[in-house]
Amino acid sequence: MSKIIVKGPVKLKGEVQISGSKNAALPILIGTVLVEGESIITNVPNLTDIVTTIRLLRSLGLKADFANNTVKVWGSNDIRHVAPYELITNMRASFLVAGPILARVGFAKVPYPGGCSIGSRPVDIHLKGFEAFGVDIRVEHGFVILKAKHKIKGTKFALDFPSVGATENLMMFASLAEGTTVLKNVAREPEIVDLADFLNAAGADVSGAGSDVITIHGVPKLQTVKHSVIPDRIEAATFICAAGITNSDIIISHIKLEHIQDIVKIVKKIGLNIEIIDKTAIRVMPGDKEYKPVNLKTEPYPGFSTDMQALIMSFLVMVNGKSIITENIFENRFMHVMELNRMGANIEVDGNKAIVHGVNKLSSTTVKMPDLRGGAALLIAALAAEGETTLYNIHHIMRGYESIKEKMQALGVEIA
Ligand code: UD1
Repeated sequence: MSKIIVKGPVKLKGEVQISGSKNAALPILIGTVLVEGESIITNVPNLTDIVTTIRLLRSLGLKADFANNTVKVWGSNDIRHVAPYELITNMRASFLVAGPILARVGFAKVPYPGGCSIGSRPVDIHLKGFEAFGVDIRVEHGFVILKAKHKIKGTKFALDFPSVGATENLMMFASLAEGTTVLKNVAREPEIVDLADFLNAAGADVSGAGSDVITIHGVPKLQTVKHSVIPDRIEAATFICAAGITNSDIIISHIKLEHIQDIVKIVKKIGLNIEIIDKTAIRVMPGDKEYKPVNLKTEPYPGFSTDMQALIMSFLVMVNGKSIITENIFENRFMHVMELNRMGANIEVDGNKAIVHGVNKLSSTTVKMPDLRGGAALLIAALAAEGETTLYNIHHIMRGYESIKEKMQALGVEIA
């Protein structure tokens, strides 16, 4: 299926249950490379990126099963040190295998990741971190070759920027190093905390995750573990924005309230009513007054997430007045703007700023999803547009939204 057709405008009704987090599940699945024994990971969303990760694990010699949102991984006694080109370049998070392979085998050969549509996404911070542990690094024929010169010992390292991926890679690597590692200026995202919880459940000794300093006391091995992945805060934000643009009243459940504070704060500022049902569910309702434009900038967590930028932009497209969105994390994350404008939005891009002038209506047309979150933004806009919107390249949203078509249909959307 390469396209979907959405009939708008629609009013959503009912309840949507949020799936497990893709961005938490990917590093955790890759972290199973560190485990000697069986890993059982539950609440794993059924997505193409997850299937790619399972193929990656199998290519390294592990056994893996995926059924009913549970991944079982075992047989990690003989890890291959080479990660296949087609799997790494397909999905950037795959570079996270470098740390676990290196920790287990002392040697890793991983394709140098290329750029991707939202930006160049280099891995220099990952590599500087490995160097701080005394790892020898060469780039040859497009592969990064990492070699531990001697038994890996803990170290102190401060990241130039709190990169999510670099924090995860180094945290996994340090789990099996001898002695203590202190990582400073690390990312604080909930997905980092979830990875630390997984590692600790497997016998690691990681503390401080969620703050900007993580301390890891290395252990000789990680053992059989069972872990449940946190709910997907970005999927929750998607449904909040979908309810916002369509003036709908819906319940969003299976969430972790503390993880969605940034988006809740912003949509309340715009004027949506949010009722906190409990720590795992909210009700999103239309506001009583006219919605107000907002200015926001993306920042590392706990700042406003770059992954939610395109989503909130779609909502702001129909909020009267001028909103300014500044993208500080990725250099090329406004690719949905051109397509939103083709639907009748009025957005100007000036460098890393998008200036959104609210319009009263959107009209249906044919659009192309540019990437995962940009694709979700177009889907949100299609819910409010008058007529049938055809959205192409839906493989992008299949990477990050479990059963998106079925979930939208259950909320009353005519989607084919
Ligand atoms: C992760 C998320 C992604 C999210 C991003 C930022 C996953 C699978 N993906 O991506 O959805 O948008 O965090 O919250 O969890 N950078 C460097 N050098 C490096 C590493 C990163 O310059 O070595 C730059 C990147 O180019 C980017 C910024 O740092 O501009 C943030 O990247 P990073 O936090 O590493 O994002 P990812 O882990 O790739």
